Amino acid sequence: MENIEDLKTKTLEDIAKAADVKTLDDIKVAVLGKKGAITEQMKGLALLSVDEKKVVGQKLNLVKGEIEQALDNRKEELAKRELDEKLKKETIDVTLPIRDENLGRVHPVSKIYEEVVAIFGEMGFDVADGPDIEDQFHNFNALNTPANHPARQMQDTFYIPNPESDNFDDSYVVRTQTSAVQIRTMEKKQPPIRIIAPGRTYRSDYDATHTPMFHQVEGLVVDKVTTFANLKGCLYDFVKAFFELDELPVRYRPSYFPFTEPSAEMDIGCKKSKTELKIGAGNDWLEILGCGMVHPNVLKACGIDPNEYQGFAFGMGLDRLAMLKYGIPDLRTFFESDVRWLKHYGFMPLDESSMTGGLSNNGGLTR
Ligand code: DAH
Repeated sequence: MENIEDLKTKTLEDIAKAADVKTLDDIKVAVLGKKGAITEQMKGLALLSVDEKKVVGQKLNLVKGEIEQALDNRKEELAKRELDEKLKKETIDVTLPIRDENLGRVHPVSKIYEEVVAIFGEMGFDVADGPDIEDQFHNFNALNTPANHPARQMQDTFYIPNPESDNFDDSYVVRTQTSAVQIRTMEKKQPPIRIIAPGRTYRSDYDATHTPMFHQVEGLVVDKVTTFANLKGCLYDFVKAFFELDELPVRYRPSYFPFTEPSAEMDIGCKKSKTELKIGAGNDWLEILGCGMVHPNVLKACGIDPNEYQGFAFGMGLDRLAMLKYGIPDLRTFFESDVRWLKHYGFMPLDESSMTGGLSNNGGLTR
């Protein structure tokens, strides 16, 4: 019979040296398996006297226990080492700069959207929403523009037949203006109201500054005391923040919109030359938005008492703002899905617009 102590020493050495789980399994089979060294010795106990059996049996059990323990420990050690190595190999250095050639770009309209929301958000406006497919009540009638009102001709409307009615007045439209969201908001919510509604709008028009689908942002404020002075202050702060200028001349011209009275258009100062448009200083003016005091009929259509509440509203084209701010000459290119265009005019996705971190993050511009 092999010396048990020698067997134990040798086995423990082998276990300590084992470099992988497979070797450990082999050792286990060789020592503790059906024909293993210890198992064989256990079988041999039958030949011994009762006293010897007791001593040798105890010893064998002890050694068996120690070997089992050593196998378990080593197995755990190896598994841990394996995991450590795997983790080391898969380490990602999160401090490495991004490979920006692999990133997509944020479309200028999305960028402007973010900027407008950031500015008005800071002023306490909520963002409101409405459907692209509207009924004529929300797009026109409730906005003080009933059927055959001459102002309906101001907008080339796409009508959608109503499968449930042959009456043309029941047909739907793809909304021609985000002003429809004014109505949706006032129907749901009592004043005080302070919302902007950015979104898609549609008109049958196509040239360098018009596309059948374009984007507007609507603004609406309704409260007990809401004045034209409030409107002017709010929009003045907006245009300065938007164009990132400390000084920006503005003027208001009287205008007409059916849903506001009085109505105005706001111009900003600029300098136009043959090749360049510089916003800010200069002797020229650029129309930027329409605005006015909410018409009492509009408040009434939404169940708001015009003797108790007044409001102001404004609307502007987001795409036009993008063209002006980022010097993009043709609106049609916005919607051509040309990746080269997007790479040129787009923005880095991680440069989020905020009033504190910067609006347009010019440093991040890809141009
Ligand atoms: N809805 C108008 C348009 O599409 C823009 C507009 C003008 C909106 C005056 C307003 C406003 O809220 O007060 O031309």
